[in-house]
Amino acid sequence: MDSVLPHRAAQLLGAARRVVILTGAGISAESGVPTFRDDLTGLWARFDAQQLATAEAFHAEPDLVWGWYEWRRARVRRAEPNSGHLAIATIESRTPDTTVITQNVDDLHERAGTRAAIHLHGSLFTPHCVTAAAHPATFPDPPDGEAAEPHEGGRISPPRCASCQALVRPGVVWFGEALPEAALTTAAEAATTCDVLLTIGTSGVVYPAAEIPRIAASSGATVIQVNPQPTPLDQIAAINLRGTATQVLPTLVAAAWR
Ligand code: OAD
Repeated sequence: MDSVLPHRAAQLLGAARRVVILTGAGISAESGVPTFRDDLTGLWARFDAQQLATAEAFHAEPDLVWGWYEWRRARVRRAEPNSGHLAIATIESRTPDTTVITQNVDDLHERAGTRAAIHLHGSLFTPHCVTAAAHPATFPDPPDGEAAEPHEGGRISPPRCASCQALVRPGVVWFGEALPEAALTTAAEAATTCDVLLTIGTSGVVYPAAEIPRIAASSGATVIQVNPQPTPLDQIAAINLRGTATQVLPTLVAAAWR
Protein backbone atom coordinates (compact mmCIF):
# COMPACT_ATOMS: atom_id res chain seq x y z
CA MET A 1 0.00 0.00 0.00
CA ASP A 2 1.16 3.49 -0.78
CA SER A 3 1.86 5.36 2.48
CA VAL A 4 0.10 8.63 1.54
CA LEU A 5 -3.17 7.32 0.14
CA PRO A 6 -4.25 5.30 3.20
CA HIS A 7 -3.61 8.37 5.35
CA ARG A 8 -5.84 10.51 3.13
CA ALA A 9 -8.45 7.75 2.97
CA ALA A 10 -8.45 7.50 6.78
CA GLN A 11 -8.89 11.29 7.11
CA LEU A 12 -11.82 11.30 4.71
CA LEU A 13 -13.44 8.28 6.35
CA GLY A 14 -13.02 9.65 9.86
CA ALA A 15 -14.52 13.02 8.87
CA ALA A 16 -17.46 11.66 6.86
CA ARG A 17 -20.96 12.04 8.28
CA ARG A 18 -22.63 9.70 5.82
CA VAL A 19 -20.84 6.57 4.66
CA VAL A 20 -21.90 3.89 2.21
CA ILE A 21 -20.03 0.59 2.07
CA LEU A 22 -20.55 -1.63 -0.96
CA THR A 23 -19.12 -5.12 -0.68
CA GLY A 24 -18.67 -8.00 -3.09
CA ALA A 25 -17.37 -11.53 -2.85
CA GLY A 26 -13.81 -10.31 -2.09
CA ILE A 27 -14.76 -9.26 1.46
CA SER A 28 -15.55 -12.90 2.28
CA ALA A 29 -12.66 -14.47 0.35
CA GLU A 30 -10.37 -14.51 3.39
CA SER A 31 -13.11 -16.27 5.36
CA GLY A 32 -12.83 -19.13 2.87
CA VAL A 33 -15.90 -18.30 0.77
CA PRO A 34 -14.94 -18.42 -2.93
CA THR A 35 -15.41 -15.37 -5.17
CA PHE A 36 -17.01 -15.65 -8.61
CA ARG A 37 -14.48 -14.27 -11.08
CA ASP A 38 -11.02 -14.87 -9.62
CA ASP A 39 -8.97 -17.16 -11.91
CA LEU A 40 -8.86 -20.79 -10.74
CA THR A 41 -10.67 -20.31 -7.42
CA GLY A 42 -13.70 -18.31 -8.57
CA LEU A 43 -17.02 -20.16 -8.73
CA TRP A 44 -17.62 -19.16 -12.34
CA ALA A 45 -14.24 -20.63 -13.32
CA ARG A 46 -15.44 -24.05 -12.11
CA PHE A 47 -19.19 -24.00 -12.62
CA ASP A 48 -21.51 -22.87 -15.40
CA ALA A 49 -23.71 -20.03 -14.17
CA GLN A 50 -26.33 -20.86 -16.81
CA GLN A 51 -26.72 -24.39 -15.40
CA LEU A 52 -26.86 -23.35 -11.75
CA ALA A 53 -27.91 -19.73 -11.31
CA THR A 54 -30.98 -19.18 -13.44
CA ALA A 55 -34.68 -19.89 -12.95
CA GLU A 56 -34.58 -22.05 -16.10
CA ALA A 57 -31.80 -24.18 -14.61
CA PHE A 58 -33.80 -24.72 -11.41
CA HIS A 59 -36.89 -25.62 -13.42
CA ALA A 60 -34.89 -28.11 -15.53
CA GLU A 61 -32.84 -29.70 -12.70
CA PRO A 62 -34.10 -28.64 -9.28
CA ASP A 63 -32.07 -31.30 -7.44
CA LEU A 64 -28.79 -30.20 -9.03
CA VAL A 65 -29.39 -26.50 -8.35
CA TRP A 66 -30.73 -26.97 -4.79
CA GLY A 67 -27.81 -29.29 -3.99
CA TRP A 68 -25.29 -26.74 -5.24
CA TYR A 69 -26.80 -23.97 -3.09
CA GLU A 70 -26.93 -26.30 -0.09
CA TRP A 71 -23.21 -26.96 -0.61
CA ARG A 72 -22.56 -23.20 -0.71
CA ARG A 73 -24.72 -22.66 2.39
CA ALA A 74 -22.78 -25.37 4.26
CA ARG A 75 -19.48 -23.66 3.36
CA VAL A 76 -20.75 -20.32 4.61
CA ARG A 77 -21.99 -21.87 7.86
CA ARG A 78 -18.49 -23.21 8.49
CA ALA A 79 -16.92 -19.81 7.72
CA GLU A 80 -16.30 -17.05 10.27
CA PRO A 81 -16.35 -13.29 9.67
CA ASN A 82 -12.84 -11.92 9.10
CA SER A 83 -11.20 -8.73 10.33
CA GLY A 84 -12.53 -6.91 7.24
CA HIS A 85 -16.14 -7.66 8.19
CA LEU A 86 -15.36 -6.61 11.77
CA ALA A 87 -13.77 -3.34 10.61
CA ILE A 88 -16.95 -2.53 8.69
CA ALA A 89 -19.03 -3.07 11.85
CA THR A 90 -16.64 -0.69 13.64
CA ILE A 91 -17.19 1.98 10.98
CA GLU A 92 -20.93 1.66 11.63
CA SER A 93 -20.45 2.12 15.36
CA ARG A 94 -18.28 5.23 14.78
CA THR A 95 -20.49 6.75 12.07
CA PRO A 96 -24.11 5.87 12.79
CA ASP A 97 -25.25 7.08 9.36
CA THR A 98 -23.55 4.20 7.58
CA THR A 99 -25.33 2.03 5.04
CA VAL A 100 -23.84 -1.37 4.26
CA ILE A 101 -24.83 -2.72 0.86
CA THR A 102 -23.67 -6.17 -0.16
CA GLN A 103 -23.91 -8.29 -3.26
CA ASN A 104 -23.07 -11.31 -1.13
CA VAL A 105 -25.58 -13.97 -0.23
CA ASP A 106 -23.69 -15.02 2.91
CA ASP A 107 -24.45 -13.80 6.44
CA LEU A 108 -20.92 -12.80 7.47
CA HIS A 109 -21.70 -9.08 7.77
CA GLU A 110 -24.53 -9.86 10.18
CA ARG A 111 -22.36 -12.24 12.18
CA ALA A 112 -19.68 -9.53 12.43
CA GLY A 113 -22.22 -7.15 13.97
CA THR A 114 -23.54 -5.17 11.02
CA ARG A 115 -27.10 -4.17 11.87
CA ALA A 116 -28.99 -4.12 8.60
CA ALA A 117 -26.98 -4.98 5.53
CA ILE A 118 -28.90 -4.46 2.32
CA HIS A 119 -28.63 -7.72 0.35
CA LEU A 120 -28.95 -6.70 -3.29
CA HIS A 121 -28.64 -10.29 -4.52
CA GLY A 122 -30.70 -11.97 -1.80
CA SER A 123 -29.49 -14.50 0.75
CA LEU A 124 -28.66 -18.20 1.04
CA PHE A 125 -30.69 -18.22 4.25
CA THR A 126 -34.10 -17.00 3.00
CA PRO A 127 -35.54 -19.77 0.83
CA HIS A 128 -39.04 -19.32 -0.51
CA CYS A 129 -41.42 -21.10 -2.82
CA VAL A 130 -41.30 -20.56 -6.57
CA THR A 131 -44.82 -19.08 -6.85
CA ALA A 132 -45.49 -15.35 -7.17
CA ALA A 133 -46.52 -15.38 -3.48
CA ALA A 134 -42.93 -16.40 -2.60
CA HIS A 135 -43.99 -17.96 0.72
CA PRO A 136 -40.99 -18.02 3.09
CA ALA A 137 -39.75 -21.55 3.81
CA THR A 138 -37.50 -23.25 6.32
CA PHE A 139 -34.69 -25.72 5.67
CA PRO A 140 -35.49 -29.36 6.41
CA ASP A 141 -33.34 -31.06 9.04
CA PRO A 142 -30.88 -33.48 7.45
CA PRO A 143 -32.23 -37.04 7.75
CA ASP A 144 -30.72 -39.08 10.60
CA GLY A 145 -27.55 -40.88 9.67
CA GLU A 146 -27.07 -38.96 6.43
CA ALA A 147 -24.03 -36.73 5.88
CA ALA A 148 -25.03 -33.20 6.86
CA GLU A 149 -22.45 -31.71 4.50
CA PRO A 150 -23.54 -31.74 0.87
CA HIS A 151 -20.71 -32.01 -1.65
CA GLU A 152 -20.31 -29.63 -4.54
CA GLY A 153 -21.94 -31.66 -7.29
CA GLY A 154 -24.37 -33.40 -4.97
CA ARG A 155 -28.04 -33.49 -5.87
CA ILE A 156 -30.56 -32.80 -3.12
CA SER A 157 -34.31 -32.60 -3.63
CA PRO A 158 -35.66 -29.18 -2.68
CA PRO A 159 -38.39 -29.18 -0.04
CA ARG A 160 -42.03 -28.37 -0.77
CA CYS A 161 -43.73 -25.20 0.46
CA ALA A 162 -45.76 -25.76 3.64
CA SER A 163 -48.44 -23.31 2.40
CA CYS A 164 -48.90 -24.28 -1.24
CA GLN A 165 -46.80 -27.40 -1.91
CA ALA A 166 -44.83 -25.67 -4.69
CA LEU A 167 -41.09 -26.28 -4.89
CA VAL A 168 -38.90 -24.23 -2.56
CA ARG A 169 -35.99 -22.35 -4.19
CA PRO A 170 -32.96 -20.49 -2.80
CA GLY A 171 -33.63 -16.89 -1.76
CA VAL A 172 -30.99 -15.50 -4.10
CA VAL A 173 -31.32 -13.33 -7.20
CA TRP A 174 -30.55 -15.36 -10.31
CA PHE A 175 -29.28 -14.14 -13.66
CA GLY A 176 -32.18 -12.63 -15.59
CA GLU A 177 -34.13 -11.78 -12.42
CA ALA A 178 -34.86 -8.32 -11.04
CA LEU A 179 -33.17 -7.16 -7.85
CA PRO A 180 -35.43 -6.56 -4.83
CA GLU A 181 -36.87 -3.15 -5.62
CA ALA A 182 -36.90 -1.66 -2.11
CA ALA A 183 -33.29 -2.74 -1.51
CA LEU A 184 -32.12 -1.18 -4.76
CA THR A 185 -34.01 2.07 -4.13
CA THR A 186 -32.60 2.42 -0.59
CA ALA A 187 -29.10 1.64 -1.86
CA ALA A 188 -29.31 4.22 -4.66
CA GLU A 189 -30.65 6.88 -2.28
CA ALA A 190 -27.86 6.24 0.21
CA ALA A 191 -25.29 6.51 -2.60
CA THR A 192 -26.74 9.84 -3.69
CA THR A 193 -26.40 11.45 -0.27
CA CYS A 194 -23.19 9.97 1.19
CA ASP A 195 -19.87 11.79 1.69
CA VAL A 196 -17.71 8.71 1.29
CA LEU A 197 -18.40 5.43 -0.47
CA LEU A 198 -16.10 2.50 0.25
CA THR A 199 -16.25 -0.20 -2.40
CA ILE A 200 -14.63 -3.42 -1.20
CA GLY A 201 -13.92 -6.68 -3.00
CA THR A 202 -16.15 -6.32 -6.00
CA SER A 203 -15.18 -6.64 -9.65
CA GLY A 204 -17.71 -3.91 -10.45
CA VAL A 205 -18.99 -5.62 -13.56
CA VAL A 206 -22.45 -6.80 -12.50
CA TYR A 207 -25.22 -4.25 -12.89
CA PRO A 208 -27.19 -2.62 -11.39
CA ALA A 209 -25.02 -3.11 -8.26
CA ALA A 210 -21.99 -1.67 -10.08
CA GLU A 211 -23.99 1.51 -10.64
CA ILE A 212 -23.97 2.30 -6.88
CA PRO A 213 -20.37 3.65 -6.66
CA ARG A 214 -20.92 5.52 -9.92
CA ILE A 215 -24.02 7.19 -8.48
CA ALA A 216 -22.01 8.22 -5.43
CA ALA A 217 -19.13 9.63 -7.50
CA SER A 218 -21.45 11.61 -9.77
CA SER A 219 -23.27 12.96 -6.67
CA GLY A 220 -20.02 14.37 -5.29
CA ALA A 221 -18.96 11.67 -2.82
CA THR A 222 -15.39 10.44 -2.54
CA VAL A 223 -15.14 6.83 -3.68
CA ILE A 224 -12.44 4.74 -1.98
CA GLN A 225 -11.81 1.29 -3.41
CA VAL A 226 -10.25 -1.66 -1.60
CA ASN A 227 -9.20 -4.44 -3.97
CA PRO A 228 -5.91 -6.27 -4.66
CA GLN A 229 -6.64 -6.11 -8.40
CA PRO A 230 -7.55 -3.32 -10.79
CA THR A 231 -11.26 -3.08 -11.67
CA PRO A 232 -13.37 -0.85 -13.92
CA LEU A 233 -14.13 1.18 -10.76
CA ASP A 234 -10.49 2.39 -10.63
CA GLN A 235 -11.48 5.23 -12.92
CA ILE A 236 -14.14 6.67 -10.65
CA ALA A 237 -12.38 5.94 -7.33
CA ALA A 238 -10.53 8.94 -5.92
CA ILE A 239 -8.36 6.54 -3.90
CA ASN A 240 -7.47 2.97 -4.82
CA LEU A 241 -6.12 0.90 -1.92
CA ARG A 242 -4.49 -2.15 -3.49
CA GLY A 243 -4.65 -4.89 -0.92
CA THR A 244 -6.98 -7.47 0.52
CA ALA A 245 -9.82 -6.63 2.86
CA THR A 246 -7.99 -7.89 5.95
CA GLN A 247 -4.75 -6.14 4.96
CA VAL A 248 -6.40 -2.77 4.38
CA LEU A 249 -9.56 -2.34 6.46
CA PRO A 250 -8.36 -2.80 10.08
CA THR A 251 -5.45 -0.40 9.41
CA LEU A 252 -7.70 2.10 7.69
CA VAL A 253 -10.25 2.08 10.53
CA ALA A 254 -7.57 2.34 13.23
CA ALA A 255 -6.06 5.35 11.43
CA ALA A 256 -9.47 7.01 10.88
CA TRP A 257 -10.32 7.10 14.61
CA ARG A 258 -6.99 7.04 16.37
P1 OAD B 1 -16.35 -11.17 -8.26
O1 OAD B 1 -15.89 -12.58 -8.08
O2 OAD B 1 -16.79 -10.75 -9.61
O3 OAD B 1 -15.18 -10.18 -7.83
C1 OAD B 1 -14.49 -10.36 -6.63
C2 OAD B 1 -13.52 -9.20 -6.46
O4 OAD B 1 -12.91 -9.32 -5.20
C3 OAD B 1 -12.40 -9.15 -7.51
O5 OAD B 1 -12.28 -7.83 -8.02
C4 OAD B 1 -11.14 -9.56 -6.70
O6 OAD B 1 -9.95 -8.90 -7.17
C5 OAD B 1 -11.52 -9.08 -5.33
N1 OAD B 1 -10.87 -9.81 -4.23
C6 OAD B 1 -10.44 -11.10 -4.19
N2 OAD B 1 -9.95 -11.40 -2.98
C7 OAD B 1 -10.07 -10.29 -2.22
C8 OAD B 1 -9.75 -9.97 -0.87
N3 OAD B 1 -9.21 -10.88 -0.06
N4 OAD B 1 -10.01 -8.72 -0.44
C9 OAD B 1 -10.58 -7.80 -1.25
N5 OAD B 1 -10.91 -8.04 -2.54
C10 OAD B 1 -10.66 -9.27 -3.02
O7 OAD B 1 -17.46 -10.91 -7.14
P2 OAD B 1 -18.59 -9.77 -7.10
O8 OAD B 1 -18.06 -8.49 -7.62
O9 OAD B 1 -19.17 -9.81 -5.75
O10 OAD B 1 -24.16 -12.35 -8.58
O11 OAD B 1 -19.62 -10.37 -8.14
C11 OAD B 1 -20.82 -9.69 -8.34
C12 OAD B 1 -21.93 -10.67 -8.61
O12 OAD B 1 -21.55 -11.56 -9.68
C13 OAD B 1 -22.20 -11.62 -7.46
O13 OAD B 1 -23.04 -11.06 -6.48
C14 OAD B 1 -22.87 -12.77 -8.16
C15 OAD B 1 -21.92 -12.92 -9.32
O14 OAD B 1 -22.42 -13.53 -10.44
C16 OAD B 1 -25.17 -13.22 -8.65
O15 OAD B 1 -25.03 -14.40 -8.40
C17 OAD B 1 -26.45 -12.59 -9.07
